[in-house]
Amino acid sequence: MSNSLKEYLISTQSRVERALDARLPSAGVLPNKLHEAMRYSTLDGGKRMRPMLAYATGKALGLAEEILDGPACAVELIHVYSLIHDDLPAMDDDDLRRGKATSHIAYDEATAILTGDALQALAFDVLATDPSIKVAAESRLKMIATLTKASGSQGMVGGQAIDLESVGAKLTLPELENMHIHKTGALIRASVNMAALAKTGLDPKVAKNLDHYAKCIGLSFQVKDDILDEESDTATLGKTQGKDQDNDKPTYPALLGLNGAKEKAQELHEQAVKSLTDFGPEADLLRDLSLYIIQRDH
Ligand code: IPE
Ligand code: IPE
Ligand code: MG
Ligand code: MG
Ligand code: MG
Repeated sequence: MSNSLKEYLISTQSRVERALDARLPSAGVLPNKLHEAMRYSTLDGGKRMRPMLAYATGKALGLAEEILDGPACAVELIHVYSLIHDDLPAMDDDDLRRGKATSHIAYDEATAILTGDALQALAFDVLATDPSIKVAAESRLKMIATLTKASGSQGMVGGQAIDLESVGAKLTLPELENMHIHKTGALIRASVNMAALAKTGLDPKVAKNLDHYAKCIGLSFQVKDDILDEESDTATLGKTQGKDQDNDKPTYPALLGLNGAKEKAQELHEQAVKSLTDFGPEADLLRDLSLYIIQRDH
């Protein structure tokens, strides 16, 4: 990893941590246990890739970071909610997440369900009302619409439904791609597109290129997640390794083999970088993040 990327990851992670901390209700506010559980799953963990992508898109477009704190927090809150529900016994039944007990283990199932629900509502509250999002009301509305669509039945939740329906099935490559584009790709794409919406008067061609970049890395992110589930270890991942095989999930390595999956990830990275041809060095972070996504070890 380049030194500039390492610095960027560290400084952005602490920026996101502060921004989330400020927006989550304190555990001293009623209902205490719910607020504590929201803070437990959201704070102090995770790579914060979706916020990173929002800020890096902002950098490519010459935007101030402050304007993106709201969208960055909103997408991370939806992501954390999706992880809490993904780990429930009714879904992937995982007891380890981000190196600690999953929400339903640390608390109980009902609390975990409600925590996810509340984080989702908070995400949209942030987008709708956060004073740091200094954009025209129309752009703010478009951000809300972007995250809503990416979260719902034609986005992440839809992808999760396909994932659960596909247990034990042998999907074709286009079916597998469709599942991944929805369950993981949609929120990643929304991270980039919400940042693009913060730029007044953005050339639609530039917006389209950024969207294509995001579509490619959204897929490569889940391809790599599947690869890591097979070849990493629990301590490095902070979640239980080997769960996809245990749960009989269709994955890229299962369909294409590990090498085939790695080739696919590399191809998607190259396509992502190609979508940024019209940008100069201001988009280097986006290029570096695409490479990081396929080279990361957790
Ligand atoms: C894991 O996402 C779940 C997927 C959508 C693949 P991340 O790998 O971004 O998890 P954290 O946020 O770093 O814990
Ligand atoms: C999760 O995919 C996607 C969402 C949470 C939306 P996985 O089930 O592969 O994620 P991990 O491996 O548990 O993080
Ligand atoms: Mg899952
Ligand atoms: Mg899972
Ligand atoms: Mg996985």
